[in-house]
Amino acid sequence: MIRPILKYGDDTLHGRARPVEAITAEIERLVVDMIQTMYAAPGVGLAAPQVGVPLRVFVVDLSLGRDPGGLIVMINPEFVERTGMQLEEEGCLSVPGFNATVVRPERAVVRGLDRSGAEHQREGTGLLARAFQHEMDHLDGTLFVDRLRGIKRDVIVRKIRKLARAGKW
Ligand code: NI
Repeated sequence: MIRPILKYGDDTLHGRARPVEAITAEIERLVVDMIQTMYAAPGVGLAAPQVGVPLRVFVVDLSLGRDPGGLIVMINPEFVERTGMQLEEEGCLSVPGFNATVVRPERAVVRGLDRSGAEHQREGTGLLARAFQHEMDHLDGTLFVDRLRGIKRDVIVRKIRKLARAGKW
């Protein structure tokens, strides 16, 4: 089932998500729905808070579903390592219509549980490292907009508020 994606300003997006305690049928359903929602958007990543569930779960697939091996499901993820730095344009399904250049690690190793509850570890460089950091941020209530400084951030926030006031957000 495709779930609605919350937008910047919704409380669930701006709070810290809780760890998953057990892989229940409800969690399995959540993961399936998140994958469907990500592909339908379409997007390369989605975190549970974006669909209103404050739990530490994210899905990433840089291939948008074209490569069967491209899908990564992470439950209760943690960084094992982060190295280097990259500066690229980035967007977010919860901040539609906006992009900005964000500083991210060039390489990131993440460890967590897969959808069956088994521990797994994935290494990403470039775009995958960026996606890992972006989705991990969502689990701590941080959106890419929050990573911007000064005027860049203010301009986006002001535009969002204006859209919200007009009922277009
Ligand atoms: Ni996002």
